[in-house]
Amino acid sequence: MQHNKVLILDFGSQYTQLIARRVRELNIYCEIHPYNKIPKEIDTYNAVILSGSPVSVRSIDALHPDLSEIRGIKPLLAVCYGAQYLAHFSGGEVAESNTREYGRANLEFIKTNEDFLENIHEGSQVWMSHSDTIKKLPNKGVLLASTTDVKNAAFKIEGEPTYAIQFHPEVYHTTDGHQLLHNFLIKIAKVAQDWTPQSFVEETVENLKAKLGNDKVVLGLSGGVDSSVAAMLLHKAIGINLYCIFVNNGLLRKNEFEDVLHQYKDMGLNVKGVDASARFLDALAGISDPETKRKAIGRMFIEVFDDEAHRIQEVKWLAQGTIYPDVIESVSATGGPSATIKSHHNVGGLPDFMKLKIVEPLKALFKDEVRRVGASMNMDAHLLGRHPFPGPGLAIRILGDLTAEKVRILQEVDAIFINNLKSWNLYDKVWQAGAMLLPVNSVGVMGDERTYEKCVALRAVESTDGMTADWVNLPYEFLQKTSNEIINKVKGVNRVVYDISSKPPATIEWE
Ligand code: XMP
Repeated sequence: MQHNKVLILDFGSQYTQLIARRVRELNIYCEIHPYNKIPKEIDTYNAVILSGSPVSVRSIDALHPDLSEIRGIKPLLAVCYGAQYLAHFSGGEVAESNTREYGRANLEFIKTNEDFLENIHEGSQVWMSHSDTIKKLPNKGVLLASTTDVKNAAFKIEGEPTYAIQFHPEVYHTTDGHQLLHNFLIKIAKVAQDWTPQSFVEETVENLKAKLGNDKVVLGLSGGVDSSVAAMLLHKAIGINLYCIFVNNGLLRKNEFEDVLHQYKDMGLNVKGVDASARFLDALAGISDPETKRKAIGRMFIEVFDDEAHRIQEVKWLAQGTIYPDVIESVSATGGPSATIKSHHNVGGLPDFMKLKIVEPLKALFKDEVRRVGASMNMDAHLLGRHPFPGPGLAIRILGDLTAEKVRILQEVDAIFINNLKSWNLYDKVWQAGAMLLPVNSVGVMGDERTYEKCVALRAVESTDGMTADWVNLPYEFLQKTSNEIINKVKGVNRVVYDISSKPPATIEWE
């Protein structure tokens, strides 16, 4: 079945993925492509959206898309830079703005009875983020709406299905942004809302059946949402020909290996649990540098996974839980590669020497869509709602070198913290939480005894994608009870602190 689909041309805006998520929320499938790599099969797209950009149309670095097969042919919505691009290169004028145009503004209609503005409230808040402004509309431009500081806030082109807006409909602060995208995509472009979790599951299972036939597939489960949902889709398609491997690296949460393994078996998955804790701990002995730890864990994972995969006769495919943000080709406004802060080791993508073909059933989905797809297959809500957990596990939450005793202490602390978050109904309000074991001993007093024991830091953050994060304002009473419980129950810890650093400048994990 061929879906209707929307093409989003990316000019490097920080909000491009947000546009895609808003379009998907309308149950419309869309893809992001760089502005200069317009797909060859352009006629298969039902509408096109141009994103914003950090670049100015007036600069020599201005980004020039080739819109010859789009303008006047496909319904086109140009946002921010896109709108300025249309103006600047089609007979209008763009100049540096005199007033700051960041943040909220209110929309005043110039033209009424426009499909584009239907059900948008006059005076509704829109979000601006630009330093250039459109002084003069392009040829055949018709002004639709203004704000106090921005005269040309929304316009259309006479005789073409082309619309442009200076503000950002995709951000939460544009209160009628969802309606505006609805008007453009559904009323004007007549795109069908045929992209739902159920249709995704049906279609993906059919495609996987056709692609994989009777081939055997191996998949590394991590206990996380992505690999679990990928496994479930494959299981529906090929049943016992899917061989799942769940490795205990000894760095998981307390009882996690046994609990999650049970859950996987209950889901009907053909899964083998491999306890390799001792191998991992041996490989990590004496290593205290965070990046060296990550690399040692990555290498050991490949070794263990490869050993197990080789036991399966004639396996042809390696399945991975790759999701859409990992495959979007990014447009760099500066031209340079971004700096590597941490080398994130993930379960997938590693054993390329195994010469397996790769299958990635989730590579068109955003994280929130993976959860919705999981829910539509009736997967357990607890499994789908789990906080992200790093591949190297507790190793990067134990600062400095690792021992089995340190892992035990941190598992106990983490279990108390996470269980309390759950019993206080705070777990689902937090994006990620965990405890760090610090390489610090401090003096305490318990009973009449002097103690000289470990300090742990608790961390709870809110975030949408882990790229930026803020600490969560957990109730004092919760922190008080949790700290007491940790110090009283976990032998070896006599001090608990709460991390109140945002990312940036700190990161979520301490290593
Ligand atoms: P940072 O510490 O970079 O973390 O702010 C951002 C998100 O990434 C996770 N993280 C990792 N995930 N392998 C992973 O699979 C890693 O090496 C790794 N390091 C950090 C972290 O838990 C957070 O969700």
